[in-house]
Amino acid sequence: MDENLLMSQPAVATRRDPFDRGKFGPQLLTEGEAIRQAVVRARQAGKSVGLVPTMGALHEGHLSLLETARTECDLTVVTIFVNPTQFGPHEDFRQYPRDLERDLAQLGRGGCDIVFAPTNEAMYPAGYTTSVDVGQLGQVLEGEFRPAHFRGVATIVLKLFQLAPADRAYFGRKDYQQTIVVRQMVADLNVPIDIRVCPTIRESDGLAMSSRNVYLSADDRRRALSLSRSLRLAEQLVNEGQRDVAVIRAQMQHEIDAAGGVQVQYLAFVADGTLTPVERIDGPTTIALAATVGKTRLIDNLLVGK
Ligand code: PAF
Repeated sequence: MDENLLMSQPAVATRRDPFDRGKFGPQLLTEGEAIRQAVVRARQAGKSVGLVPTMGALHEGHLSLLETARTECDLTVVTIFVNPTQFGPHEDFRQYPRDLERDLAQLGRGGCDIVFAPTNEAMYPAGYTTSVDVGQLGQVLEGEFRPAHFRGVATIVLKLFQLAPADRAYFGRKDYQQTIVVRQMVADLNVPIDIRVCPTIRESDGLAMSSRNVYLSADDRRRALSLSRSLRLAEQLVNEGQRDVAVIRAQMQHEIDAAGGVQVQYLAFVADGTLTPVERIDGPTTIALAATVGKTRLIDNLLVGK
């Protein structure tokens, strides 16, 4: 069995009474049957339901997904589950920041109606074996460095869609490949849910918001800014008329190298909405990158040539 499955989610996720938040906070549910009934009943009553899947450690990016869901739906559900199957054996599953109390407080202020925070045992009970393989889409870019990652993502996202059969589900564009994988999975498996992709939210200095930013030392954080800077540089080059991906990539790499201590894992140019590489910018193109800064792995992307 995957060693990550043996590690429990924080005890607080299991002991809280679903109805003890009072009338101002979100209702906290931990059982699959409870969330399913809440969503099904809401939809039977004619309400639209928006689902925001997260792994907790919430930041402004997550809250902006909630805000969009609130403007488009009558009832909002945020899921908080650090999904063990999307982490590799040497990745940060154990260290991943967990603070359910803080997340609940933020979601309360953000106007979330229901939080679903199941345990590992509830999502992957003993004897669990099934997974969703998204094929080639899960093997390129992130998949080259995190081989089982998108199998884990597709599996848990499908499970969440089954447990909380919402009208719409909200994902951040920051995880560009994830949005492609989820859309494909939903289309291939005929899941009746509308996938909404919302803009990346950045710190004022350009760093893309991520729960993993807390791992960065002050020095690493300064170096990490070279990633968003390189994307902005690419955008500027494209706006000035540069179309040659090799030229743009070289200048981006130069910008990142100048910061020192940043190891690029990939720097990909793909036709927007796909993972298909391009050599020239002849239409909307997403530049996606991954890099390690110290011990922290970061991803970012930008749409250019719109
Ligand atoms: O983007 C994330 O936080 C996770 O990959 C998701 C979609 C919640 C699945 O665990």
